[in-house]
Amino acid sequence: MSRAAVVRGLGAVVPPDAVTNAMLAERMDTSDEWIRTRTGIGQRHVVAPGVATSDLAVDAGSRALKAADVDHVDLVVVATTTPDHPCPATAPSVAARLGLGHVPAYDLAAVCTGFVYALASGAGAVASGLAKSVLVIGAETYSSILDPTDRTTSVIFGDGAGAVVLGAGEHDEPGALLEFDLGSDGTLADVIMIPGGGSRQRSGGVPADPADVYFRMDGKRVFRAAVQRMAGSARVVLDRAGWRVDDVDRFVGHQANVRILRAVAEELGLAPDRLVVNLDKVGNTSAASIPLALADAAQRDELSSGDRVVLSAFGGGVTWGACALVWPDIAVF
Ligand code: UT7
Repeated sequence: MSRAAVVRGLGAVVPPDAVTNAMLAERMDTSDEWIRTRTGIGQRHVVAPGVATSDLAVDAGSRALKAADVDHVDLVVVATTTPDHPCPATAPSVAARLGLGHVPAYDLAAVCTGFVYALASGAGAVASGLAKSVLVIGAETYSSILDPTDRTTSVIFGDGAGAVVLGAGEHDEPGALLEFDLGSDGTLADVIMIPGGGSRQRSGGVPADPADVYFRMDGKRVFRAAVQRMAGSARVVLDRAGWRVDDVDRFVGHQANVRILRAVAEELGLAPDRLVVNLDKVGNTSAASIPLALADAAQRDELSSGDRVVLSAFGGGVTWGACALVWPDIAVF
């Protein structure tokens, strides 16, 4: 039987500068009350000028390596929507800066589902024997792609990074990634998009519309699809794991909007107190969202070894994915 990928350590980081709702209300037509009631977000963190996604990824990655008490891995996967450059990938430079030598390293683009996709990719590498250990990082600097005049996105997204080290182990040990469900629907590609900067808009560096370099989201359509897909994907992994909804101790959903998380819980028949919520402090950090939520819950003692955990995410593409695991006794930095 193939080896299981087992979570051995977790690290997470947000940049020091927080932008509160009140600070946003000073520069655009919004309010603390609107943002809190519509999203549950109270603040988000943003990087200082000159800080890039790889800087956050290196910080989170080194914390995860320290938490796992290892100084080497066989593979690095960086899930991100905001790479340092369109080309090359960010992961090789992250691996080099972490002193990991000439290991394979690649980026994975699944927007807010990126971390779950990257976990599955790392688990596949372990199961196939390609790697015995994998550093999986979700890292984002959305502040670099948000239209500063767009209140519908500026109030939601924040910067941050989280990482886990996966090791090869047994399927019945705590931390083993037990079941996955992944999916996509490219017919909805337009609901979350940066229109410019890719091969579709060959404008010699000058976008058709200056705003095309920025991230755009059709919030209402995303909201509906996110609830349906996050609940559906969670249901699939519950079935595959042989767990009932009541068996779930912690549901760690992508931190998009607290209303989405509550609607997913309702759809599943999950008690709302099982939801892990940290978006009030960090906003929606896309591919970094799930590891940041895990780290926050662990540090607040809301996540303990032995807890049955379901991760579930939805993002641009559109993409979705879920994973079931029993939380291990690991360090979190
Ligand atoms: O991470 C990837 C996945 N992303 C998501 O899951 C995000 C999903 N979508 C959402 O979370 C929500 O759709 C939003 C938070 C983006 C928007 O909430 P909503 O309840 O769907 O609001 P809405 O777009 O229907 O807008 C309601 C009203 C509108 O005004 P009118 O037309 O009713 O007069 C908007 O113009 O709120 C207005 N509005 C705002 N007002 C104050 C939109 N953004 C803001 C704002 N501040 N920031």
